[in-house]
Amino acid sequence: MRADRRAHPLRIGFAGAGMVAELHALAISRSAEAGLTAVFDPDAELANARAAQWGCRAHATLDGLLADELDAIFVLTPTEAHVETAIAALETGKHTLVEKPVASDLGELERLVSVADAADVVCMPGHNYAYVPELARMRRLARDGRLGDLRLLSIMFAIAHTEEVAGHYEGVVRLVLPHHAYLAVGLLGLPERVSAGVTEPGWDHLSQPDQAWMALDYPPHGTALLFATLAVDDDSADPWTFVVKALGTKGSASATWRSGIYEADAGSMATGYAAYEESYELELAAFCRAVRGEGSAIASTLADAVAVERVLTAAETAARSHRAVRP
Ligand SMILES: NC(=O)c1ccc[n+]([C@@H]2O[C@H](COP(=O)([O-])OP(=O)(O)OC[C@H]3O[C@@H](n4cnc5c(N)ncnc54)[C@H](O)[C@@H]3O)[C@@H](O)[C@H]2O)c1
Repeated sequence: MRADRRAHPLRIGFAGAGMVAELHALAISRSAEAGLTAVFDPDAELANARAAQWGCRAHATLDGLLADELDAIFVLTPTEAHVETAIAALETGKHTLVEKPVASDLGELERLVSVADAADVVCMPGHNYAYVPELARMRRLARDGRLGDLRLLSIMFAIAHTEEVAGHYEGVVRLVLPHHAYLAVGLLGLPERVSAGVTEPGWDHLSQPDQAWMALDYPPHGTALLFATLAVDDDSADPWTFVVKALGTKGSASATWRSGIYEADAGSMATGYAAYEESYELELAAFCRAVRGEGSAIASTLADAVAVERVLTAAETAARSHRAVRP
């Protein structure tokens, strides 16, 4: 990968100007290393409004965005457009960050990986939770053997979403569980078997799933229990909201989004979680370091995205067939 030692801040263009773009824009506004230069959204009215709000140029087409003077493209489109958009960005020599899930299926993802491998620029998945300091520390402790033999990784996500917001996505499995999967892959690698369940959705009108779980087998001693619901909040004592715990024979570690909490003014969630918001800033800092030639700054790579896709596909098969599946 080519090291990039430009004097000016990284000039970033957004493909997609929806809810997640608000969080990336906030992170960029707090960074001295990057600036938001241009935005494209097929909803021209939205693109123009965002450009006015963020003080950048608006484009009516992807070609227009890619022809602009930019160093990097953030692919923030609905998932089904990620791969086409990212490939177009890479082919015009732009460093590229692709939101999660990186692709809709393994075939598409492998197509992107082969273009990214041949490109002389960065292609980084938007695996933002991997940059949360407590979760980076957990991975370090586990890799250094400080936690001993990891017996349990537990990840609980309980954040109620409105039906209006949930309607933007294809369901909880591909909206939330990718985060759980790359955290599990980062700590424990690819599991040997995946069991999973997806409940009947409880929405009034939507048909996409609102709650799902996966159990990952890491023989001989390890288990990961991964749960996500968009249906309910946890208002009880020591609420889960988003809690990760790793229990090992020599130690344990945890992370929670409850460490800083306030009214949200950006993104898809009604509550603001400091750790979540900051994850976009830390992810951006890692992206900028990777562009400068420090590939090791990428905490969760495209290879991890491939492992995530294998786990999610296995989970979907497992949920349908009521049996454990090898990813
Ligand atoms: N990392 C996270 O925690 C996180 C959180 C939310 C969403 N996401 C991911 O981000 C992506 C976008 O989610 P969102 O919440 O912004 O959704 P959204 O529906 O709010 O926004 C998507 C935007 O993309 C635009 N769009 C549609 N097709 C496009 C195309 N071909 N090119 C450019 N723009 C296009 C739409 O007009 C819309 O404005 C999804 O893949 C989602 O999984 C990640």
